[in-house]
Amino acid sequence: MNVIFLGPPGAGKGTQAVRVCERLGIPQISTGDILRRAIKEQTPTGLAAKSYIDKGALVPDSVVIDIVRERLAQPDCQNGYLLDGFPRTVPQAEALAGFATIDIVIDIEVSDEALIERISGRRVCPACGATYHVSTLQGTACGKCGAELIQRNDDKPETVLSRLQVYHAQTAPLIDYYAKRGLLRQVDGAQPMDACTQAIYAALGETK
Ligand code: AP5
Repeated sequence: MNVIFLGPPGAGKGTQAVRVCERLGIPQISTGDILRRAIKEQTPTGLAAKSYIDKGALVPDSVVIDIVRERLAQPDCQNGYLLDGFPRTVPQAEALAGFATIDIVIDIEVSDEALIERISGRRVCPACGATYHVSTLQGTACGKCGAELIQRNDDKPETVLSRLQVYHAQTAPLIDYYAKRGLLRQVDGAQPMDACTQAIYAALGETK
């Protein structure tokens, strides 16, 4: 199954993608994670992407389209994949349609107020990528690998507002785009994590 997770920053796409991918045995393809890795490794793509990400803007379409096209050609994508954070603009969706067939688009919706609270409280593990929220954290170390947790650069308050504006202007039009193609399913991302996971399984046509 080829799945897209759509939704604003902080909606829970990454959190839910980890669960769904484990259950379905498909790779999670997060353009945000790929770009952050490229920044850490100081590759030419990473160096070019950093200034956009740091100010909450989107990385140019051509860069992310090439990344995804190459990634989907890898053998582990033969039996399905979950795209987390791509496409994010109509041109990206149109390009994707040229090299992939999408079965379902899950739109995870959360109000802007709740998103700001979630993002400002998010902590991530720089070593294994696990994501936490300060409200449920005990201590400052990753529960999976023990590394010291950090706040993402683009989770600072001023950048979060830009990211939300960018979402509404450039990504939200994809809701209509995929609804018109009969692929869209909407899930309430404001509910607790486990309930959200169950709603996604239901949307994916699974019973549990
Ligand atoms: P990216 O990494 O994709 O960020 P994003 O879409 O802004 O999404 P987030 O990672 O912020 O949130 P999420 O929805 O995954 O939420 P999470 O599960 O962590 O992109 C970063 C940047 O890269 C972009 O701004 C852009 O510059 C660039 N980029 C990436 N893709 C691009 C593309 N296609 N085109 C151009 N540029 C691109 O959850 C958030 C928090 O909430 C966590 O603390 C979590 O614990 C908590 N939480 C989750 N679910 C719940 C729940 N149900 N109840 C309570 N708390 C919850």
